[in-house]
Amino acid sequence: MKGIVFTEFLELVETKFGLEMVDKIINQSKLESQGAYTAVGTYQFSEMLQLLQNLSKNTNISTDDLLLVYAEHFFEVLKTNYSQLFIYYNNPIDLLSSIENHIHVEVLKIYPDAELPTFEVLKKTKKKLILLYTSSRAMHHFGLGLMNKTFEHFNTTATIVLEKLNDEGTEVKFIISQN
Ligand code: HEM
Repeated sequence: MKGIVFTEFLELVETKFGLEMVDKIINQSKLESQGAYTAVGTYQFSEMLQLLQNLSKNTNISTDDLLLVYAEHFFEVLKTNYSQLFIYYNNPIDLLSSIENHIHVEVLKIYPDAELPTFEVLKKTKKKLILLYTSSRAMHHFGLGLMNKTFEHFNTTATIVLEKLNDEGTEVKFIISQN
C-alpha cells in the first residue's frame, strides 16, 4: 500500500483525535516501518489494517465507518494531487464507470506497485451504475466514501446500496442510483 494512504490517514487521526492517539495506535501495532511513513514509500497493507483496528478499539467506531470518513478526506487529497484526472469527466457516473479502464490505469503508471481493487461495470445507464468491487483488502467502505464524494464533486447525490457477496467483503456489489 502506498505511503500517501498512511501519511494522510495519520494526519486525519491527529486532526480528529489528537497526536496522543496517533502515538497510541502506532505503539499498539506491530509495524515493520515503526510508523515512519513517507508519501512515496510502499508499506504492507497489514500495517494499515492494524492501525485501523486499533483506532477502532480505542474509539468504539467500526473500521467500516472509519474507512468511510477517511475516504471522504482522501478524496480531497486526490482532487488536489490528480486534478488532471477529474477535469476529464463531466458527470459522476462516467467517472465511476472509468475507474477500472482509465483512472486506476493512470495511477498504475505513476505508482507501478500500487495495490488496487477491480471495479467491473455490470450495468450502466445515464443515472444508474452497478459495479462489482473485488479486492483482497476488503476496503469497500473506502470505495463508498470516494463514491459519495464523487457525486458531491458534481453537485449531486446518490443512493448507494452495498451488497456483500461474501463474508470477508472481498467481493461487493455497489448499486448506485443518482438522485
Ligand atoms: C486505492 C488513486 C479514484 C477506489 C487507491 C490508491 C491510490 C488511488 C493511489 C492506493 C493504492 C495503494 O495504496 O497501493 C486514485 C486516484 C483517483 C482514484 C488518483 C482519482 C483521480 C477512485 C475512486 C474510487 C476509488 C473514484 C471509487 C470507488 C479505490 C479503492 C481503493 C483505492 C476502494 C483501496 C484499495 C483496495 O480496495 O484494494 N486509489 N483513486 N478510487 N481506490 Fe482509487
